[in-house]
Amino acid sequence: MRQGHGRPAIYGNHPTGMNGPRKVHIKSFGCQMNVYDSHRMADTLAPEGFAETAAPEDADLVILNTCHIREKAAEKVYSELGRIRVLKQAAAREGRRVVIAVAGCVAQAEGEEIIRRAPAVDLVVGPQSYHRLPALLARVARGEAVVDTEFPVEDKFDVLAPPSRAATRARGVSAFVTVQEGCDKFCTFCVVPYTRGAEVSRPVAQVVAEVARLADAGVREVTLIGQNVNAYHGDGPDGRPWTLGRLLERIAEVPGIARLRYTTSHPCDMEASLIAAHRELPSLMPYLHLPVQSGSDRVLAAMNRRHTRADYLDTIARMQAARPDIAFSSDFIVGFPGEREQDFDTTLALVDEIGYASAFSFKYSPRPGTPAAEMAEQVPDALKSERLYRLQAAIDRNQAAFNARCLGHSFDVLFEKPGRHPGQLVGRSPYLQPVQVMAAPSMIGEIATVTITEISANSLFGTLLAPRARAQTAMLAEIGG
Ligand code: 5AD
Ligand code: SF4
Repeated sequence: MRQGHGRPAIYGNHPTGMNGPRKVHIKSFGCQMNVYDSHRMADTLAPEGFAETAAPEDADLVILNTCHIREKAAEKVYSELGRIRVLKQAAAREGRRVVIAVAGCVAQAEGEEIIRRAPAVDLVVGPQSYHRLPALLARVARGEAVVDTEFPVEDKFDVLAPPSRAATRARGVSAFVTVQEGCDKFCTFCVVPYTRGAEVSRPVAQVVAEVARLADAGVREVTLIGQNVNAYHGDGPDGRPWTLGRLLERIAEVPGIARLRYTTSHPCDMEASLIAAHRELPSLMPYLHLPVQSGSDRVLAAMNRRHTRADYLDTIARMQAARPDIAFSSDFIVGFPGEREQDFDTTLALVDEIGYASAFSFKYSPRPGTPAAEMAEQVPDALKSERLYRLQAAIDRNQAAFNARCLGHSFDVLFEKPGRHPGQLVGRSPYLQPVQVMAAPSMIGEIATVTITEISANSLFGTLLAPRARAQTAMLAEIGG
């Protein structure tokens, strides 16, 4: 049972005198945790009478769930706020009040400054306060401009409302579950330790209960998420901290969950039980996002990544030994302060050495308050752009080679939704590649073995081989590269 606030009259004085259902539009920027948090905000507002709408112009409440990781991401919020303000003014002319809330990491980092810069904003709410949304909105309804960026002592996960079965179903067969939040690593470029705070892990029982609820509503694939997910150390039922490897083992036992993934990992925390989980759990997908950021030891040290290029390669080798068909993705930053041409060349070489199946790459963006923003030898933007272009070409080349190696192979595909053309479904390969297959709509949520017959720039095409029950999983070692 949810406690505390009843049902605050958030907009009780509707000028038409009608108290129809209210609508909330939530827009997520940035990482998967924001997607997860947006769902939890919607779930928490549903019992307050808010239905979700995809159309901001229909909404009584607009929430922007923001990202602060790079300057561009943060600035997007202000241009979006400009557009929402126009909607708010138009609604006001019709006598309808629209409330604007800014949530997420920009809210946490900038707090009151947001209302100073964008006075149309009514509420600024940091990621640790989402469970207080109903109470905060009640204060807004009383005419207050509210800023809540506290790191409260209570566990928000104890209070946040769980999703209804209908909401879970509408969100599809693959779901995220936050198991860990925050980061203690303090990479010198990164705002996360400041915006999301210190590492906190959810207890095992709480995570298992959430996964069981999702499975019960039809979810087949769960991705455990956290800013530093493999530093997980939540309390186990035995009263001791459990590792992520142990948690995965436990979740693999939840009936109905056929696929497990986790993200994002730090190379230093790929400990033995996690590697063992890759060897022992068939449902743990052979695809790992393991950001390296740079291939140069000089740059890695300046980034405070706490490992060398050789350490990273060693971790990759241990993962490959545990799961020969594993493939990797990564994040890279180009133009970190002091990065010279030779450093960048070692990054390019690492991309080819590992043969990533996919990777994200970014120009270094100085973030206020982080040590790297104050470092000497900042790299000019034109040089960053040039390096990014070359790095992306290397990544694309490796991705194309990886996809080409899939041609003619068979692997399990989890069907998610209708595909591009009539009669087609689109599903995900173990390596998260979208696969288009002619298959009946009733197969959504099913896993079937598919033979890859054709590849294009962003998709694979395949034919149904046999239902999973009759087919051996045929993921071949050479695909992992
Ligand atoms: N500039 C550019 N990229 C960054 N990232 C984190 N901070 C910055 C920054 N200041 C990238 C890293 C991280 C990903 C989520 O975003 O590559 O892994
Ligand atoms: Fe940021 Fe990841 Fe480094 Fe933590 S480990 S500081 S989240 S880049």
